[in-house]
Parts: sequence; structure tokens; C-alpha cells
Amino acid sequence: MRRYIVAGNWKMHKTAEEAVNLALALIPLVSDVRSVEVVLCPPFTALPSVGEVLNGSGLFLGAQNMHHEPQGAYTGEISASMLLPLGVSHVILGHSERRHYFIESDPQIREKVGAALQAGLTPILCVGETLAEREAGETESVVSGQLEGCLEGIELAQAEDLVVAYEPVWAIGTGKTATLEQAQEVHALIRAKLTQFFGVDLAGKIRIQYGGSVKPENAAELMAQPDIDGALVGGASLDADSFAAIVRSV
Ligand code: PGA
Repeated sequence: MRRYIVAGNWKMHKTAEEAVNLALALIPLVSDVRSVEVVLCPPFTALPSVGEVLNGSGLFLGAQNMHHEPQGAYTGEISASMLLPLGVSHVILGHSERRHYFIESDPQIREKVGAALQAGLTPILCVGETLAEREAGETESVVSGQLEGCLEGIELAQAEDLVVAYEPVWAIGTGKTATLEQAQEVHALIRAKLTQFFGVDLAGKIRIQYGGSVKPENAAELMAQPDIDGALVGGASLDADSFAAIVRSV
């Protein structure tokens, strides 16, 4: 049985103080839900304070990005070794906004995945096609290519160490969700690809999240699909009630 995992990607929203208030509002609404791993991913500046608030709550703390080197002359960057002492356990890598606005490539993301695993952080590796790619019938080749570029040669000690998030770029922040069939189809493809890299046993246990306009109204039916094991939530994670409703509906 794969344990569901729901992560809130707060993106570039919330000051440290606002983030603490959101976490404080959220904890009582979800901390009794044991069947779901809940991860909050505030901006870097809020990680220390949100980490303190989450201590002992059963919720997990995630970062939204990291550099692959442990330290060095990389102005503006943050390494795994800086995240770990804050209580960070997960890190979103290769989000489509990083790929699009910051021109992150598969080889760079692959280095980050390797560095995160080495440091003991769980990468939430994001993949997904753009609208133009879907309309051109390239969804399968794009997603397969991203998985190959980001995971090939990566070694995994146990399935819990890696989470993959399928986020169709056209569904992010647009209010458009993939249909259940579209989402399940790509999730099954991702699991087949993971089987190539890691074997049937591990691949059967790796969690694959869906992301892209997940809301309380559509979360349950998405999560009921055989290969959907959780959600990566953007907009709806900024409101305690709607994020808690998603966690509870899962
Ligand atoms: P959204 O964002 O839920 O606002 O569509 C999802 C994401 O970017 O992870």
C-alpha cells in the first residue's frame, strides 16, 4: 500500500509571519489524518519559523528548490546541507516554473535529485508537458524524456525516498484540471518508466502525485485513480480550509 502524500507548494507567497499563521491554522485541521503524509513547502525565508511550528505536529517541511553543490560560490543559492538543520525533509525539484523561468534543464535537475538523495532529502521530482506539446501528441515522449533525463542512473535505496509529481503545465494555476483519464494515463506511463529504472518492486511503491489546479472539489476523484498517490497543490494550499479539505478528501 502506498501512503498518500499531499504537498502544498506555497511558491513565492507569504512572509515568514504569514507563513507561520497559515501553518498554525492548518495543523489542527489535518494533524489527525494519519493515512496522508502532509508536506508544507513555504519559501526559503519562512522555513526556519514554519519548521519550529511543525515540530511534533506530524506534518513535514519541504523546500521548493536547492542547488546540487553542498557549498560554494553560487550567489543566491541554497544547498541541502543548509536545509537539513531546519527540519526540511522534502524538496520540490524541476517544477515547471523553474524549468520555464529559470531555464533549468533535465541534466541540472538530475544533479539536484542525486544531491538531495545523498543528503537524505526526499525529492519531489516534477514532470509534465505544455499545452502545445499535448496538442502535438507529444505528451508521452516529453514526460518519458524528462524522466530519463532526471532519473537515469540514479540509485534508490527504498521507494519512500523519491516522489514524482505529474503536473501538466497547462493545468497549473489555470483552473483547468486534466481529466481523470488523461491523468491516470500519464501516471501509468510514469510508473512503467520507473519500473524500467528501478524494477517492479520499487516502482510499485514510489508515490506519484498529480498537480495542476487541484481543489477540494476534484481531489477525491483524482486520488481514486489507481496510479495517483497524492497531490502537489499550489493555489489551494494558500488557504488553510481548502488545503485541509483536500487532505481530508484524500
Ligand atoms: P496550482 O499549482 O495548484 O495552483 O495549479 C500547482 C503547482 O504548481 O504545483
